[in-house]
Amino acid sequence: MSELDADIEQTLISTEQIREKIGELAAQIDADYADREPMLVGVLKGAAMFMSDLARALERPSTMEFMAVSSYGSGTQSSGVVRILKDLDRDIADQDVLIVEDIIDSGLTLSWLLKNLRSRHPRSIRIVTLLRKPDALKVDISVDYVGFDIPNEFVVGYGLDYAERYRDLPYIGRLRPAVYGG
Ligand code: PRP
Ligand code: MN
Ligand code: MG
Repeated sequence: MSELDADIEQTLISTEQIREKIGELAAQIDADYADREPMLVGVLKGAAMFMSDLARALERPSTMEFMAVSSYGSGTQSSGVVRILKDLDRDIADQDVLIVEDIIDSGLTLSWLLKNLRSRHPRSIRIVTLLRKPDALKVDISVDYVGFDIPNEFVVGYGLDYAERYRDLPYIGRLRPAVYGG
């Protein structure tokens, strides 16, 4: 139980469902990277929880890197103009990069990131996201591993924030409109 529970209108994906799904994703990734060691590249801050649980669910060893980006734009909408707040510490040339995202919404952040990382010549580059909103996508991105497709609603928890809060909820839910003044 969290004190934040009271602000949640409905649970969309429970802690147990997240755990199970991560197990399935990890099994697929283990199989696909049979002779490789993926370099997990987490996109801060949203992907922090997913990244740490996914890395521990994999049987194969992996390495972890983080990038922090911010997309210019108002409120909850991303604009596609992205600024690097924290770059990778290591060179990714010849690495098998697996980008780890919590959610693909418009897809603009990831589309920019893919272009940016591809220009650094990794050996391979794939994407795993826990959540995707098919109805919100503005760009065509092929995503290799998707946990859940969800409706185009504002969700929080398990890394996803509203005004930087609710990331620490262990499940994913819909905020009560009263919380954001609705
Ligand atoms: C959120 C989310 C994704 C991105 C998805 O990050 O974690 O990274 O937006 O949006 P898009 O597909 O429309 O580009 P945010 O920029 O809110 O930063 P955060 O991870 O620190 O919360
Ligand atoms: Mn993010
Ligand atoms: Mg955010």
